[in-house]
This record gives sequence, structure tokens and C-alpha cells, in this order.
Amino acid sequence: MASVAGGTPKARARRAPAVQPFADVRADFPVLQREINGHSLVYLDSAASAQKPRQVIETMERFYSYSYGTVHRGVYELGREATEQFEGARERIASFVGWDPACSIFTRNATEAINLVAYAWGRDNIGAGDEVLITEMEHHSNIVPWQLLCEETGARLRYLSVIDSGELSLDELDEVLAEGRVKLVAVAHVSNVLGTINPVGEIVKRARAAGAVTLVDGAQAVPQMPVDLGAIDADFYAWTGHKALGPATGLLHGRRELLQEMRPFLGGGHMISRVERDHSTWNELPWKFEAGTNAIAEAIGLGAAIDYLARIGMDRVREHERELAAYALERLPEVEGLTLYGPDGADGRGGVVPFTIEGMHPHDIAELCDREAVCVRAGHHCAQPLMRCLGVGATARASFHVYNVREDVDRLVHALGAAREVFEL
Ligand SMILES: Cc1ncc(COP(=O)(O)O)c(C=O)c1O
Repeated sequence: MASVAGGTPKARARRAPAVQPFADVRADFPVLQREINGHSLVYLDSAASAQKPRQVIETMERFYSYSYGTVHRGVYELGREATEQFEGARERIASFVGWDPACSIFTRNATEAINLVAYAWGRDNIGAGDEVLITEMEHHSNIVPWQLLCEETGARLRYLSVIDSGELSLDELDEVLAEGRVKLVAVAHVSNVLGTINPVGEIVKRARAAGAVTLVDGAQAVPQMPVDLGAIDADFYAWTGHKALGPATGLLHGRRELLQEMRPFLGGGHMISRVERDHSTWNELPWKFEAGTNAIAEAIGLGAAIDYLARIGMDRVREHERELAAYALERLPEVEGLTLYGPDGADGRGGVVPFTIEGMHPHDIAELCDREAVCVRAGHHCAQPLMRCLGVGATARASFHVYNVREDVDRLVHALGAAREVFEL
């Protein structure tokens, strides 16, 4: 049974850093003032969706209150202001990840960004006999669009295996690429379950040398580590704003030549240059892929979230995630019967720690943690093929962001100890 507060006060003081480097940002997150069931809130589910700082909430409120208008159309002041704020957000977001704003497309989320590529690039470039290579650690968003594409085109979907260390094998990648049929490699930058940080720059290099196009799913990477798309050099990179302290909006960054060649994804207003009775011509990038009215306030809100993260500094954010993951990996094994999953140590993983406890279903774990206002996720995490590889139906998962502190991990360990008592384990 885990000790309630993680050892003697002396031992804990030895482990705790002299200063909580991020304690000061907690005041920016109004939700952290809440109490649930008589306990202060501990939010450990940022890999699902992150909480929002007041800077993001206030930016969106200000926009809706005083500058709201639709973009690219209004010849009046409100329309101009909305367009400036919207395109300004795109520029800052693109610069945050080191990519050209004209090749940075706003989507609803990462899922839509990946589907955009599967439809608009995949249907014209993948055919019978070709192979699409993904991995066993993908989120359903980076599996199902490729299943649909392969069903439609007669191509084959293949999976790179996850080896015992929770990582991918580059040797296996080389072997599959050497067979010469892979047309697309799509891989997560950071696994949403195991936390594994994949060597995506190296994967892109090897895939390109074998003539394959690459897509990286950065949904878990951009929120928590420095990401330089120029260095990774993938053909497509998709991510989602709501995990990066912003609202629900996504981004697809693509290589200009490919985006130019591709047919549009959705048709309608805003994405056209000219519409005749029987055909149309397309708007310039990025608007060719932004049919209809954009989620304007969300894009502006994501711009504010990126400004917030940039002010903290992504190197510091990464170090904070690493340090919290390391602390969780150290403390969670104090809970009897607990199994951890993912790479050993915190260096090769993001701020995500999945676990199971013998004799308790992960849903029971999450529900009993909730009694102590500790929010953890339980389930298959939209990664059912990976769950089968791990030999489990589900896991519990704790994940961190800038507002978490070591005491949150202590509270989790305490809640898990109390949960075991309920189960009389
Ligand atoms: C690795 C990964 N890819 C894609 C997604 C999908 O993100 P969204 O639901 O915002 O499209 C998630 C969300 O959990 C994820 O963790």
C-alpha cells in the first residue's frame, strides 16, 4: 500500500526542488480555484485536453465583445480588425513551429487535418499495390483515415510494431521501406498513451530516401516541447490547439509544392477564386483549403495560447513536463500492484504516464480518484490497436501541463492508495 504523503517530510523535502518553477503560472488558470467534493482540483488529463489561461479566455471575450466580424470580406473597420487578428494569429502560430504561414492551414482539429491529407492528397496519389505505413502506437485519428483510403483505393495498410521498450524500431522501418511499396509514412511525434517521443526527423529522412511522403501527427508534441518543422522536414504536420492551452481548432502545415498540386478538400465559399456554372478555380494557399467561414475566435484564441507558451519558453515547458513525468515514475510504483507502461525514464517520453492496478478496472481507478478531485483519464485513449499490443483493454493515464506541480502527483498517489482501500486490496 502506498504511503499517504510519499515518505517522511524530510525525504520529500530532499526530493522536492527548492522552488516550484511553474507555481506562478497557476494563478492564470481560473479553473484551478475550484473545489470538487471538498478538495482543490488536481487536473491530470491535459493529454486529452488542456485547461485555458485567462489570457486566452480574455482574448476571445475581447474579440467577441468588441472586434467581431467575418474575415477577408468586410470592407468596414470590424471586418478589417477581425482579418488582421485572424491572419496575425496564423503568422505567429506558423512562426512558433517554424513554418510558412501560407502553408499553414486552419482546420477544425488534428483529426480533420489528417483527413484532409488522406482525401486531398491520398485519393490522387495512392493506388492498388501501394502501401501506407503507420505504427501500432497511433491514435485512431491517424489510423481510420488511412483505413478508409486503403479500402477505397485497394492499397495495403501496414503497421510498424512497438517494441518492448515502448519505442519504434528504425531497423524494422528500413526493412519495410526496402520492399519499395510504401507511398506514405504517417507517425505520431509523441504517443498519447505511452508518451514515447519518436525520432520523427530520422523517420522522415529515411522515408523520403525511399520515395515516400510523410505525415507527422504532432497533437501531443506541439503543446509540450519545442517543435521546429523546418528541422523535422515532414511533408505534412498536423496538430490541435485545445491541447496547447487554446480552444478547439487545428493546424495542418504542408509542403508548398504538394499543397499546390492537391485538389481541394471541401468545396464552398472562401476557397475559390472564380466560380463558373460548371467549374471553378481555387483561391491561393492557405485559403484553398479553408472552405466556408473559419472558426475565427478560436484561431485568435490559439494565437493567444501560443503567445502564452512562447513567453514561458518551450524549453522550460519541456523541462517541466520531463521533471513531472520523472517524479510520477518515481512515486507511482509506491502503489502496490501498479504497472507502468511506456519507455523507461522520463528523457524519452512526454508528460504522459499510463498505468494499471491489479484487481481494479481503470474506470474504477478514475472514478475513485474523482472523489478526491483528481482528474485522470481511463479507457483505450483512442488507441485500441496499441491496447491490444500491451495486452490490456484499457489503462488509467496521468498527464501534465504547465499548471501541474509535484504536489499533484502526491495527491494522485494518495488517491490511488485510498482507492485500493475501497477495493480492500
Ligand atoms: C496523438 C493524437 N493524435 C490526434 C489526436 C486527435 O486530436 P483532435 O481530437 O483534436 O483531432 C489526439 C487527441 O487525443 C492525439 O492524442
